[in-house]
Amino acid sequence: MNIAIIGTGYVGLVTGACFADLGNTVYCIDIDDKKIKMLKEGNIPIYEPQLQEIVQENIEKNRLYFSTSISEGVKNGEIIFIAVGTPSAPNGEVDMTQVEHVAISIGRNLNHEVIIANKSTVPVGTGDMVTRLIRENLKKKVKFAVVSNPEFLREGSAVYDFMFPDRVVIGDNTGYAGEVLAQLYRPLQCPIIITDVLSAEMIKYSSNAYLAMKISFINEIANICDRVGADVKSVVNGMGLDKRINPAFLNPGVGFGGSCFPKDTRAIVDIARRYDYDFKIIKAVIDVNEEQRYVVIDKLKHFIGDIRGKRIAVWGISFKPNTDDIRDAPSYHIIKRLVEEGAIVSAYDPAAMEHMKKLIPDIDYKSNSYEAAENADGLIVITEWNEFKHINFSRLKSVMNEPVVIDGRNIYSPSEMKSLGFKYSGIGR
Ligand SMILES: NC(=O)c1ccc[n+]([C@@H]2O[C@H](COP(=O)([O-])OP(=O)(O)OC[C@H]3O[C@@H](n4cnc5c(N)ncnc54)[C@H](O)[C@@H]3O)[C@@H](O)[C@H]2O)c1
Repeated sequence: MNIAIIGTGYVGLVTGACFADLGNTVYCIDIDDKKIKMLKEGNIPIYEPQLQEIVQENIEKNRLYFSTSISEGVKNGEIIFIAVGTPSAPNGEVDMTQVEHVAISIGRNLNHEVIIANKSTVPVGTGDMVTRLIRENLKKKVKFAVVSNPEFLREGSAVYDFMFPDRVVIGDNTGYAGEVLAQLYRPLQCPIIITDVLSAEMIKYSSNAYLAMKISFINEIANICDRVGADVKSVVNGMGLDKRINPAFLNPGVGFGGSCFPKDTRAIVDIARRYDYDFKIIKAVIDVNEEQRYVVIDKLKHFIGDIRGKRIAVWGISFKPNTDDIRDAPSYHIIKRLVEEGAIVSAYDPAAMEHMKKLIPDIDYKSNSYEAAENADGLIVITEWNEFKHINFSRLKSVMNEPVVIDGRNIYSPSEMKSLGFKYSGIGR
């Protein structure tokens, strides 16, 4: 099939490259000409395992094309995916400007029958809005269908998630377009759920809100474990073996970040409000998350007191491992607070430092973990990159001024750290 993807970011690029890899011809479109230039040369603008290889291979096989021209995409696509950003506006509403622009451009350029699949995470009712904008801007009468096709991939394992999804969700009110889209996904051999557009749009927000709720729930359980002296890892083991509960997403830490959970939880609260419903649980999930980031600083102070003038090492900046994405990353808030309170911060991350330098230029960025920890009075682990799991602890201890480790992701064993002479605290253990 000929596919056009409008918006070649994390979702659009992974979707485009993977569909090309499945044998389709894909035109990835973006307004960012620097990005498109890089991609045409076979270089990918984001850090995402396996993506570089797939992009290069499919460019060579003439199945993957990049362009800044939306008319080229619309002209060539039998199915057109919308995969542009839907960021949070300051009041929590979803900023739909990018989707609106794309819908108008599709309408203006459409001259053959197509299916438009919305992959961006969008408020309930967007399918109708996109249909209306396309119709209002058509230059000639053309048959088209708008379906919802929310994306569930996770950054850091996006290619794997695309190729081996738990399910594909399609929202279709036409009775035919959903089945055409389903054909495209059949090679993935996963359950394909075809429902109505509103339900598909709700499935995406409900899934993210539920996962965010699990994270805030276990973070609060961890905070209680800290107070009563229990070990949250054992608590999670005991809970997770119950099939009704399941251990996934029960990993306490510094709270959720990234481009999805923070904005999607705010969005579903706002959507509910617009329909006169007060979504109390998710409001609490957001509040818990915003406080959880700073638990690591309280723990640090427990060991070293006032942090003014102290050197604090930070390991991990990206919002999760295996990505360079720092959108809504807990590290940003933690580093900001440390600096505000007078600490001298030295940070290291394997992939995300260049991005953070633009937001917080005036801290020390180091080229490896040990350099960041040199002369530090305390170390906070914020992101659980694999390289932090395999640390030479005696080397670490020898370079630090004070052997204080606050493990914001519970990657070390408390008993081992204590026996090695560290003053150590995890989250809830
Ligand atoms: N990142 C994730 O892990 C993830 C997972 C599931 C769903 N989503 C959802 O998918 C959508 C896209 O997310 P993302 O992380 O890929 O965003 P992104 O910011 O990485 O990419 C969006 C791209 O769209 C481009 N764009 C904006 N306006 C355009 C236009 N008029 N024409 C062409 N291109 C345009 C931007 O230049 C950018 O490259 C969002 O709604 C997001 O919530 C994201």
